[in-house]
Amino acid sequence: MSRSYYPKSFLWGGAIAANQAEGAYATAGKGLSISDVLTVGEGRIRRVTLDVEDNQVYPSQVAIDFYNNYDNDIRMFAEMGFNCFRLSINWTRIFPTGFEEEPNEEGLKFYDRVFDLMASLNIEPIVTISHFETPLELVRQLGGWDNRDMMPHFLRYCEVLFKRYGHRVKYWMGFNELNNVIKIPYLAGGLFITEGENRNQRMHQAGHNMLVASAHVKRLMDEYCPNAMMGAMLSLSGMYPATSHPEDVLSAYQMRRNSLIYGDVMIRGDYPAYAARLFETLGVTLDIEEGDMELLKNNTVDYLSFSYYLTCAVDHKTEMAADTGGPIGVDNPYLEKTKWGWPIDPIGLRYVCNELYDRYEIPLLISENGFGARDTFVDGKIIDDERIDYLNKHLIQLNEALHDGCDVIGYTWWGPIDIVSAGTGEMEKRYGFIHVDKDNDGHGTLKRTKKKSFDRYKAIIESNGSALFE
Ligand code: BG6
Repeated sequence: MSRSYYPKSFLWGGAIAANQAEGAYATAGKGLSISDVLTVGEGRIRRVTLDVEDNQVYPSQVAIDFYNNYDNDIRMFAEMGFNCFRLSINWTRIFPTGFEEEPNEEGLKFYDRVFDLMASLNIEPIVTISHFETPLELVRQLGGWDNRDMMPHFLRYCEVLFKRYGHRVKYWMGFNELNNVIKIPYLAGGLFITEGENRNQRMHQAGHNMLVASAHVKRLMDEYCPNAMMGAMLSLSGMYPATSHPEDVLSAYQMRRNSLIYGDVMIRGDYPAYAARLFETLGVTLDIEEGDMELLKNNTVDYLSFSYYLTCAVDHKTEMAADTGGPIGVDNPYLEKTKWGWPIDPIGLRYVCNELYDRYEIPLLISENGFGARDTFVDGKIIDDERIDYLNKHLIQLNEALHDGCDVIGYTWWGPIDIVSAGTGEMEKRYGFIHVDKDNDGHGTLKRTKKKSFDRYKAIIESNGSALFE
């Protein structure tokens, strides 16, 4: 008979990003971020317009209007029993273009109100400093993170956050899914790469610059809030060889290193031995400035947070497709998929926790895991049994990982309330335990309705995992 191995101190909650939830894109002095000029996909490719065009739907601009509904929404999270909530600060609320010398007080006040409310409800904030919200003006003028001139603007922003919120935020993370700069470079690294440019060079240089920036951020955090903890945040959905063909096994191993390289630098403090050959193969020459390596060595992170949605199967002859949830490989005949083609693999979560804990031996936080699906009302209710099944099975496997000895300190379900999809811009790719009345064209009342999964997650949290075994 299984039992819960979730520790009493376990952080239970959910995660969102400002650009996918807040809306109010031009309110109280906010400037445009890179996500505010992304169109809606729905089977089509999401376009970056680099300016606001007429007759386009830009889903992030209104999103679910969390900006004006945060009080109600966070109270609903408290009702589910959340003791933590991961959110990002919208850089452009604080520095509208990124270039200002002084922060926008109105923007800072918004997060004061959010943190006040969370404190009153005993919800621990977990804060992502940059989650696909780079100021558009910085990108227009500097071209994104392959330009080191981004650094002072980012660090000025971070310093303001530590000074203002350092006394109330214990868990920080710098860049969301830093390793995705080599998969979804526009969102993760503010890189707008055009045809004919040296893609690998730009992406990997941006990766290095972001690693150096992250080390600076850790240094600043230690200075302003010595009791806080800094996490790496990486996209680490799992990876298997498609067959036992040695070429597949080797390809899967090498491909995994393309992501782990970022964990290796942020946690161990240096580029791993395999990095030199990787860059050589890609024709990449990194511009590493004097002092960079020492900074990386002296400012490693305190915990590793990661997103886990799926596993992919690597066939050495087939090119992988990039997606927000992780790379998509060839079909794995043992796994079912979501409507968006993401393989569902609860055991993979146990596998990845063990893989990462074996490698790094620092606390792990699962900062994203979730199930994107279409929901329908029947007699005024949403009976989302598939989402419940995904939740139950992943949490049972996480319990196995805890039993295996992995030090996992928390779990934040991605999108506990329906929000805009980062990858496609759709509202109808829903993750929430709470439904939001809005469609892909931006129509709807924004009314919130609990789904069946709301009570299920509540019961799991209330019992600290025991309900999974009843
Ligand atoms: C992660 C991102 O990559 O995947 C989130 O950190 C994103 O911002 C999530 O929403 C799920 O992807 P999508 O495309 O379904 O929203």
